[in-house]
Amino acid sequence: MSLFENEISDSAGWNAAPSEAAAFARAEVRTLGAEHLPDIQCLLTGLDEASRCLRFGWACSDTSLKAYAQGAVATASRIFGVVVDRQLRGILEIYRAPSGCAKAALVVDQRWRRRGLGWRLLTAAIDWADAADIDAIRLTFARHNWPMRRLASKACAKFDIGLDEMSAEIATPRMRPRRHSFGCMTTARLREPTDGAQHHD
Ligand SMILES: CC(C)(COP(=O)(O)OP(=O)(O)OC[C@H]1O[C@@H](n2cnc3c(N)ncnc32)[C@H](O)[C@@H]1OP(=O)(O)O)[C@@H](O)C(=O)NCCC(=O)NCCS
Repeated sequence: MSLFENEISDSAGWNAAPSEAAAFARAEVRTLGAEHLPDIQCLLTGLDEASRCLRFGWACSDTSLKAYAQGAVATASRIFGVVVDRQLRGILEIYRAPSGCAKAALVVDQRWRRRGLGWRLLTAAIDWADAADIDAIRLTFARHNWPMRRLASKACAKFDIGLDEMSAEIATPRMRPRRHSFGCMTTARLREPTDGAQHHD
């Protein structure tokens, strides 16, 4: 049973897979700790081969993913999870570096993509890093990883392109010139669903 089963009491009765908009509205970003290890392991071992390759660089076995999760809860500066239907659907890990930057990596369950969950995780990480006096978040991924390229572009990342890999550096809002803050927006504003709701600077 998921640790989140009893926590979101007002969500009882969600049986059908939510639509894109419904998943975004119902998704909740949480900070995860050692008590969530079984949920994290369940999410990671539920990844298909392509997702394992994109996230870790190769098709890791279930055993190595479980061990990886143990290491992550012990060493990550912060782990964010996105929960929908009382189930963990994605995670983002942040590792603070002495340079003042932080490395991050994320993955969303392959059945739950294109619903804004990756964006929810990334904006939570940017907000956290900003509050923690971190200058920038760096994400590294394969050059052909277009979803990541698009996701990072949306956060106004600066890209560094290598032979097979690329890295995206996302400056935290406090490091952006005011006029160009998030390419003209704050993370809060960018997080708003695109339903015509009012935004506030
Ligand atoms: C990258 C990943 C986390 C994105 O998660 P997601 O929940 O699908 O992302 P979102 O729905 O929040 O999409 C955010 C933006 O990314 C872009 N995007 C996401 N998936 C895309 C795709 N398949 N093709 C094109 N653009 C895509 C969109 O521009 C979207 O912005 P929009 O909503 O304004 O259109 C997900 O694809 C994933 O888990 N991939 C495997 C793991 C991985 O590659 N990790 C990278 C190592 S750090």
